[in-house]
Amino acid sequence: MATDPRGKAATLALRRRLLSNSCRLFFPEDPIKIVRGQGQYMYDEQGAEYIDCINNVAHVGHCHPLVVQAAHEQNQVLNTNSRYLHDNIVDYAQRLSETLPEKLCVFYFLNSGSEANDLALRLARQYTGHWDVVVLDHAYHGHLSSLIDISPYKFRDLDGQKEWVHVAPLPDTYRGPYREDHPNPAVAYASEVKRVVSSAQEKGRKIAAFFAESLPSVGGQIIPPAGYFPEVAGHIRRAGGVFVADEIQVGFGRVGKHFWAFQLQGEDFVPDIVTMGKSIGNGHPVACVATTHAVARAFEATGVEYFNTAERKLHFVEHRRPRKECPEVQAPDVFQLGQRTTRGSKAGCHPDRHGRESEKL
Ligand SMILES: Cc1ncc(COP(=O)(O)O)c(C=O)c1O
Repeated sequence: MATDPRGKAATLALRRRLLSNSCRLFFPEDPIKIVRGQGQYMYDEQGAEYIDCINNVAHVGHCHPLVVQAAHEQNQVLNTNSRYLHDNIVDYAQRLSETLPEKLCVFYFLNSGSEANDLALRLARQYTGHWDVVVLDHAYHGHLSSLIDISPYKFRDLDGQKEWVHVAPLPDTYRGPYREDHPNPAVAYASEVKRVVSSAQEKGRKIAAFFAESLPSVGGQIIPPAGYFPEVAGHIRRAGGVFVADEIQVGFGRVGKHFWAFQLQGEDFVPDIVTMGKSIGNGHPVACVATTHAVARAFEATGVEYFNTAERKLHFVEHRRPRKECPEVQAPDVFQLGQRTTRGSKAGCHPDRHGRESEKL
């Protein structure tokens, strides 16, 4: 069914006139005009159906009816910020805490992944009293100025690397210097982080944080070797810094076997800060930072309040732990005003480069 009163060429002309060229289109030479999405499908103005393999936010599918209904019902009731007492924010924090290690028990809700990582940076700096950040090569952590600075994927095309940013190699056992045939690639790649930290310290720099996607997705769907994060965390904590796990792209069951990608590194591994976004709101602007009491208390000690407008969206979507017996099948719960409906949905299991079935990213 064609549903396009304006016509693709006219839309394209308007877009070129009114929007910045920095906001790029997919397939710029012949963009597709998408007018509708449902589940795993998208539809263009001619009614042609596309399987959506690239959208990274529609975690339970486009326009999931229960998400749509919950959003509609909440829009009729209240839309405000997090400074009023309300059940949604505490209920959701509680549900999230059930998915995380016990130590990660303080939550901040925000509007975007970038906001979450920016807050993580502030928390890390306040807690440690240090300023510098170690990141992995090719990483992207968001579009705010603070995050462009810690995103080699971006800063290499802009002002370059700031003196407070230190880049460690991606722990890529497929293409990197230490491969699968190395006796201990986890320790070898973690030693690279140690080397980067030591070289920064020799220049008088002090490390506030190590930031990494728990499974570097922007860097190429890299699965860090098991044991890498605990080793890195040891080096970073000895330097007085904290470990920040960016789960914005890969959290909420997207790695298949675990709810959080950092759990691929072993049940005992606990980051100091976890940031969430994208799939948390099924595309609606919601994000979250989880951290420890110690980090949160240090931030509170500044006396500066933290608030934003994220609260009203919190009832939209919840996700349940993937079923252990069938790891490739996620069971997202759409949770609406106290009523839970479970609807199993097959996560897109793409064979990874080794031919294994793995992440949905
Ligand atoms: C790993 C990672 N972190 C942070 C962000 C920033 O999230 P947002 O676009 O919601 O600000 C992104 C966005 O693509 C991302 O992929």
